[in-house]
Order: sequence, then structure tokens, then C-alpha cells
Amino acid sequence: MRLVLLGPPGAGKGTQASAIVERYKIPHISTGDILRLNIKNGTKLGIESKSYIDKGLLVPDELVVLIVRDRLKEDDCKNGFLLDGFPRNVKQAEALDSELKAMGIKLNGVVNIQADRDVLIERAMGRRICKECGATYHIKYNPPKVEGICDLDGSRLYQRDDDNEETVRTRIDVYHEQTQPLIDYYQKKGLLLDIDGTKSIDEITNSILDELES
Ligand code: AP5
Ligand code: ZN
Repeated sequence: MRLVLLGPPGAGKGTQASAIVERYKIPHISTGDILRLNIKNGTKLGIESKSYIDKGLLVPDELVVLIVRDRLKEDDCKNGFLLDGFPRNVKQAEALDSELKAMGIKLNGVVNIQADRDVLIERAMGRRICKECGATYHIKYNPPKVEGICDLDGSRLYQRDDDNEETVRTRIDVYHEQTQPLIDYYQKKGLLLDIDGTKSIDEITNSILDELES
């Protein structure tokens, strides 16, 4: 299964990605996670990306396109993959199309998770992430058993630097300007699966898996 997850910041892409990759045994390729790992490790890519991410702006296309191009060539992508947070604009979508064409493969679907601005802001601002395993929680909707501590490994939870209200608002604006046109782009290709992202985490997972299997 070769899939793209589309949706604004806080829509629940990362949360739903976990269930989808478990169901189809495919790798989860999140450009946001890859960029944050590079920032943490102080690589050249991380240093170049940080100022964009901190402002809520998109990292230049040439950097992210290269990341995805290399990642798709790895062995674990042979049976499929889930792209999360890529493509983010029409230029990246065209780059992905030509890469897949060169590889002789096609996407099976684009899962488009939608929610309103107020929901997105509340979700992003309440998100907490485990420093060790990357598990994602929400202070209200998916709280850990002990406040600030990961259920899985007892490590501390942290808040992403770009999950402050001002940056979240910018990220949503950037989504509307640059990423939303992809809905039309993939609709025209007959690949779009629209998902209501305002329901509970489990209800959304069920809708996505139902859509993918119908
Ligand atoms: P990225 O990491 O991709 O972030 P994003 O798109 O802003 O999405 P988020 O991670 O904020 O949200 P999500 O939809 O995954 O929500 P989640 O499941 O965590 O990108 C970050 C930055 O990197 C960008 O701004 C850009 O600078 C750069 N970048 C990345 N890719 C790029 C690209 N291709 N090109 C250029 N630049 C790029 O859920 C959010 C919270 O809500 C969690 O706490 C969760 O527990 C909770 N939650 C989830 N679902 C529900 C539900 N149904 N009900 C209640 N709570 C829920
Ligand atoms: Zn953990």
C-alpha cells in the first residue's frame, strides 16, 4: 500500500499514521520527524531547516524533496509506504509524481483528514511527546496515566517548539495557502479519500481503514 496523509497541523496525521502503518506493515515517512531528528543531531540539514520550522514556514522544497527521494529508495519501502507531511505544495507533489514514475509505481490513495481551525489549535497546543520513544499524547484527549510521563517507558514528555499559539496559527495559514491546493490536485487524479478529523481517535482510525479497504 502506497499512501499519502494530507491535512492541516494538528489534524491527527501522526496519530493516525501509527494505526495505518501497523495495519499494512509499511514504513511511516514523516518529513517533520526527519527534520526534527536532524535538528536534534545538529546536522547541516537540521541547521538549515530550524529557522523555517521555528517560524512555522515550509522548509525549502529542494531539501525535503531530496530527503523523500532517498528514503523511498530504501529496501523497507519495497512493499509500500505512508508519507506524512509530504507533499506540502504542488511543486513537491509534482516531484513525487516524477519520482514514482521513474520507479514504475503509483500511489494507492491520499487520506485527507480535515478539522476546523479551533480544533487544530487546541490539539496542537495540548500535544505532548515522549523524549525517548516519540509517542504522542494530548493533555485533554489522550493524557498519559501520570502527568508529563510516557506510559510506555517512563520518560519525560515535552512540547514541540513550534506548538505555541502564534506559530500554530502561521502553520495553519501556510497550510491554507500552499497545501490545500493539493486536495484538488489529488481529487482530479481520483486518489482522494476525505476523512472527518473531528471524531474520536478510534472512530477516525476505523473510517480510514474502512475507506482503504472498500
Ligand atoms: P510536521 O511535523 O509535518 O507538522 P504538521 O503538519 O504541522 O502536523 P502536526 O505534527 O502538527 O500534526 P498532526 O496532524 O500530525 O497531528 P497529531 O497526530 O500529532 O511539520 C512541522 C514543520 O516541519 C512544518 O511547519 C515545516 O516547517 C516542516 N516541514 C515538514 N514537512 C515539510 C515539507 N514536506 N515541506 C516543507 N517543510 C516541511 O495530533 C495533534 C494532537 O492532537 C496530539 O496531541 C494528539 O494526541 C491529538 N489528537 C489527534 N487526533 C485526535 C482526535 N481525533 N481527537 C482528539 N485529539 C486528537
Ligand atoms: Zn515513551
